Amino acid sequence: MNYNKKTVKDVDVKGKKVLLRCDFNVPMAKDGSGVITDDKRIRAALPTIQYLLDQGAAVIACSHMGKPVATFESYKKKQLEKGKDEASITEEKWKKSLAELRMEPVAARLSELLGKPVILADDVVGPDAQAKAAALEPGQILLLQNTRFEKGETKNDPALAKAMASMAEVYVSDAFGAVHRAHASTAGVADHLPAVSGFLIQKELDFIGGALADPKRPLVAILGGSKVSSKIGVINNLLEIADTIIIGGGMAYTFSAAQGGKVGDSLLEADWKDYSLEMIQKAKDKGVELLLPVDTVIADKFAPDADSKVVAAGEIPDGWQGLDIGPETVKLYCEAVADAGTVIWNGPMGVFEFEKFAAGTKAVAEALSKTSAITIIGGGDSAAAVQQLGYADKMTHISTGGGASLEFMEGKELPGVACLLDA
Ligand code: 3PG
Repeated sequence: MNYNKKTVKDVDVKGKKVLLRCDFNVPMAKDGSGVITDDKRIRAALPTIQYLLDQGAAVIACSHMGKPVATFESYKKKQLEKGKDEASITEEKWKKSLAELRMEPVAARLSELLGKPVILADDVVGPDAQAKAAALEPGQILLLQNTRFEKGETKNDPALAKAMASMAEVYVSDAFGAVHRAHASTAGVADHLPAVSGFLIQKELDFIGGALADPKRPLVAILGGSKVSSKIGVINNLLEIADTIIIGGGMAYTFSAAQGGKVGDSLLEADWKDYSLEMIQKAKDKGVELLLPVDTVIADKFAPDADSKVVAAGEIPDGWQGLDIGPETVKLYCEAVADAGTVIWNGPMGVFEFEKFAAGTKAVAEALSKTSAITIIGGGDSAAAVQQLGYADKMTHISTGGGASLEFMEGKELPGVACLLDA
């Protein structure tokens, strides 16, 4: 895939209406109060928004939020699948679930951050959005409603893409977190307008794309998280690129079991044992150093106050489960990153949410904060871990995309990037 894309600086936006796709899919308080619990994604879009406004563009911003369910019937089906009691599933609850995914809280926060009013549309391409977009003046910003309120959005419906595009003259995408989605607002609109990237996408492409295409070596990839199955693509792709691959987190137990280790009650994906052995063999064939845990912190239950002790990897008794890498493994992994040129980290080393089992993840974060290597943190859990543990400002780049950064590292084409004009 070509990562060299035209940016906002390559087009004339003065006096033009610009459709700007952002990823404002921010976490909200669970109580339905509309409180944004982390506004990082809104802040990450500010440089592009501010630039466009300063250039005299009229900005029509849009984003998805959550996964709204279009009809009561499909809402009911989903709730039943989740095991909810039929009598408890009401139309009011469905409507409330939609109301909680409206863009009002984002508009309010964006307005505070920009220090200017953000006009909010009541729909995406309906009469309100059309009228407000038509009346928008240079230097003003309009935010459309949740793009997923339109059922054509996730189907990349050409009619919806055309209707969105008809409100603007230029399309700018800065929604890195959603570039792995081929949706109407992330890809379809680019069929109708000159399409360029914003500064956030450009930065993500430079860092992650640079690390994959032409890394400063040695390139060390640290892969953790609970499941081998969710990281197969990444392991496979990075085995083609990296010099060292470090495996931690829950998925290490599948590798251990595949090699005949005893994993007790640890997380195990038995169906992925053969694949793990294939990856071990592939690493040997490619001359990639593959590091697996040599010891592990085990717990007698999955709880913050569980009893814990350290045992050698592959020697976990029944009734116990591995929840973190052990101290010898920490030493080994920290040594491996100390002389790296580039480190890519995706997935925590253990259950860092429990203080007692956060030491492995914390030690790796600390080692990364001390190395002179370029350090790139995949979004999602690893970004949350680095933030929660207080090392965020020590990393070279923390991706704003969870699924998107994962698919990027898998070497997949990203539809929201592929649709932009080549530089
Ligand atoms: C994310 O939160 O990773 C992005 O906003 C994409 O959201 P999605 O998984 O609902 O498409």
